[in-house]
Amino acid sequence: MNIRGVNTQAVFDLDVIKEIVVRSKDTPGAMLPILHEIQDAAGYIPAESVAIIADALNLSRAEVHGVITYYHHFRQQPPARHVLKLCQAEACQSVGSAALAEHAKAKLGCNFHEHSGDGMFALEPVYCLGHCACGPSLLVNDADVHARMTTVKFDALLQELRGTK
Ligand code: FES
Repeated sequence: MNIRGVNTQAVFDLDVIKEIVVRSKDTPGAMLPILHEIQDAAGYIPAESVAIIADALNLSRAEVHGVITYYHHFRQQPPARHVLKLCQAEACQSVGSAALAEHAKAKLGCNFHEHSGDGMFALEPVYCLGHCACGPSLLVNDADVHARMTTVKFDALLQELRGTK
């Protein structure tokens, strides 16, 4: 798992979403499987999906939107090019991951579960990456774990990922 994964944005196709909804709408508890399948296909849950799902499942748009926003797993915008998952569990907290998180948020201009202003980075908290002795730990694109992360190393990593280093 050492590929510097780059998420590609799926081309949004309304017909694909309609087909997913029609195929699954009559199965019990259809909402979550539909949302998962749409996200797998499109890379996120396009806003237009809400009305299609609501109509098919005989729910209000607010109910569908509520489920999408309840689960952080579901993205409402195309995936960022790079996903940074910063460990916030106890061992990493004890060696400065909270301060590092504040630095990352300031540097990227976003909070956890959000994208940087340029859409290039998503910042997510995780709760233990299994590298507790080497914290703070940072996982990049579900591929590379960076150990003993510091603010200086974080800034250098951003430059590297932006291709400006
Ligand atoms: S607590 Fe951070 S890697 Fe385990």
